[in-house]
Amino acid sequence: MTVLPIDLFDEMLQLTTTLFFEQENNLFFHFLEKESSTLIDVGCGNGDYLSRLHDTYPQLSLTGLEYEAGIFERAVRKQKDRLDFQLSSYESASVEPDSAGAIVARLVMQHIPDRIQFAEWAYKCMVPGGRLLLLDADDNALQLNGRLPLFSQLYVQSRQSMQSKGWLSFADRLKLEMTHTGFTHLRTERYRLTAKDRETKRLLYRYMICVTELYTKEPISEEREKELSAWLHDDFCSHEIHMFGLEFQKR
Ligand SMILES: C[S@@+](CC[C@H](N)C(=O)[O-])C[C@H]1O[C@@H](n2cnc3c(N)ncnc32)[C@H](O)[C@@H]1O
Repeated sequence: MTVLPIDLFDEMLQLTTTLFFEQENNLFFHFLEKESSTLIDVGCGNGDYLSRLHDTYPQLSLTGLEYEAGIFERAVRKQKDRLDFQLSSYESASVEPDSAGAIVARLVMQHIPDRIQFAEWAYKCMVPGGRLLLLDADDNALQLNGRLPLFSQLYVQSRQSMQSKGWLSFADRLKLEMTHTGFTHLRTERYRLTAKDRETKRLLYRYMICVTELYTKEPISEEREKELSAWLHDDFCSHEIHMFGLEFQKR
């Protein structure tokens, strides 16, 4: 992965957590109420998402793995009892076999070059019956928003630069790869964030600025900022972000 300006990356991850946590918690994480083994968050970034899981399921031991030192430093500031962070790639993390009740990889799988090796690692770390959750942006539903031509073009470009070519959607490829390794596929859930109200739009506006500056590697241009501001202040404009979540279980 390329080296990122940490403050911007940190803010972008905070924003995606704020925008999606409640919906994703309702869709995917309620099984944690009855879970007692550790949950591992692979590629936990700034640890914001894992902190929210800790606040919601305080009885559970959570471990975040992150190999990029700059963003790991933001995560480790949040460390407390039952919320642990390791500066490590998942490949070299010290995880006992058959120890994790759940493994989560959110917005990470596009960055993992050998996903079969990832699946084998996750399978080995998990207790029988453990869950694997892969949450990601649904690139099949990428949309050009007529009110955000500059931003939507840049967003589509930035997502396409991460994708490997193929006939199957990314979600379907992940499903094949994980089941090939022995996981049972429980479900694929597609969901979306619709930014219509003022507060959600304000958060999404900041998110779009972060994405723009991270992708172009320079402060946002006047022209691009004008487009985002006009969208923000027009109550008739909205925008959607589409996501998918795959849930698997170790037999
Ligand atoms: C887009 S961020 C997502 C962060 C977090 N999961 C979230 O949802 O806010 C992806 C993160 O995965 C990390 N990452 C990628 N490959 C990794 C690996 N092999 N081991 C550990 N972390 C990894 C990157 O350094 C980056 O911080």
